[in-house]
Amino acid sequence: MKTAIPFPSKAYMLDSGEHYLIRPIHSDDRDRIIELFNHLSPESRYLRFAHAISKLPDAFLDDILQLDYAKEMALVAVIRNKQGDEEIIGISRYVTPPNKNVCEFSLSVSDHYAAHGIGTHLMLDLFAYAKENQLQEMLGYVLSRNLKMLHLVSELGFQVTNLDDDPDFKTVSLLL
Ligand SMILES: CC(C)(COP(=O)(O)OP(=O)(O)OC[C@H]1O[C@@H](n2cnc3c(N)ncnc32)[C@H](O)[C@@H]1OP(=O)(O)O)[C@@H](O)C(=O)NCCC(=O)NCCS
Repeated sequence: MKTAIPFPSKAYMLDSGEHYLIRPIHSDDRDRIIELFNHLSPESRYLRFAHAISKLPDAFLDDILQLDYAKEMALVAVIRNKQGDEEIIGISRYVTPPNKNVCEFSLSVSDHYAAHGIGTHLMLDLFAYAKENQLQEMLGYVLSRNLKMLHLVSELGFQVTNLDDDPDFKTVSLLL
């Protein structure tokens, strides 16, 4: 896979002693992304996509597996299961509007692996990549009731702002 600037895979350890890697998404990760989605609870799916969703749209998958790495990036956290196969347990992504140096992020972590620092690492590695690609700001839209995500981004230094016309969402932004 070509990246605008190469991103080395990084290894991290869970409290259990298990290791996981954070690496750029690969074009053959389709089934692993579907599996991650299948392991998200309806509530987590709602919090990620801001509506009820039971299947990942093909267009979403096509989009995420064929990134334009100069403007977009998706990082996945992977572990090896007992059979030795890679399993995706989290994903962070940003997209950049044309001719802008601001990017918009999204983040999901498998419910089974929540609260082990994986979401935080996925965001920190995403910041590093965005910065290397000369992006100056990262922003996101988070449901107001998604207190866990609002807490996570606040800890990472994001500014949280209410949207005047939509109390259901907050904007979060960080200068990189
Ligand atoms: C929100 C979400 C991404 C958080 O991911 P996560 O991997 O659980 O996040 P982290 O583990 O980094 O941080 C969450 C908590 O775990 C704690 N934590 C961090 N490292 C830890 C560790 N090694 N051991 C135990 N807990 C740890 C953090 O301190 C934090 O706790 P706190 O809220 O009490 O401070 C995940 O729950 C998710 O995918 N939710 C559904 C989708 C969603 O909401 N996406 C965001 C859309 S904008």
